[in-house]
Amino acid sequence: MKYKAVIFDLDGVICFTDEYHYQAWKILADELDIPFDRTINERLRGVSRMDSLEIILEKYTGPELSAGEKEKLATKKNDIYRKSLENMSPSDLTDEVRETLNSLRDKGLKLAIGSSSKNTRFILKQIGLEDFFDAISDGTNITRSKPDPEVFLKAAEFVDEKPVDCLVIEDAEAGIDAAVAGGFDGAGIGSAAGYKKATYRLDSFKDILKYI
Ligand code: BG6
Ligand code: MG
Repeated sequence: MKYKAVIFDLDGVICFTDEYHYQAWKILADELDIPFDRTINERLRGVSRMDSLEIILEKYTGPELSAGEKEKLATKKNDIYRKSLENMSPSDLTDEVRETLNSLRDKGLKLAIGSSSKNTRFILKQIGLEDFFDAISDGTNITRSKPDPEVFLKAAEFVDEKPVDCLVIEDAEAGIDAAVAGGFDGAGIGSAAGYKKATYRLDSFKDILKYI
């Protein structure tokens, strides 16, 4: 086999929580009269909550916001987002993702999460994967968000493998950039499928099995 481990982004790769992020930011942006659409939303993929807020605020024209006010806005968005997460269950994991993860496990690969999200463990619990992965590197153990490679380097360290022996799966261009910066091969899916820096293009999650 070409790789010893696979590191998965979470939102938009394992599950469709990327859509819940969009919907929650949209509610906040509308309340603040900030233009925000799916095109701008593409820039939020993979980046941290506070970095996402800064991108949204680029079009804000109201009175200047203090750091504390920005914190409150980010918390408000997260509260809206968590309400959607509360309704998730194991039925929100697709058969394709479940079966592919099991096949990769059966082949002896180590499987890890590399996500910028601080909600990672809650989401994994909701979809019934809280004990599935060999390691979880997420927004709670990093200081720099994607495109910095820190979250993937930590994931590789947690599974005790070198970046060159790990394949990263990402739906964000920032995530593919992070993989490349860390010395990983990156497979792009969804929004990152056509990204030129991706080592592989995944038209479907199960395509991972072609490249390992
Ligand atoms: C990433 C998402 O997985 O997590 C980003 O792609 C999000 O859109 C980031 O901003 C941080 O998530 P959270 O759950 O900590 O707000
Ligand atoms: Mg993602």
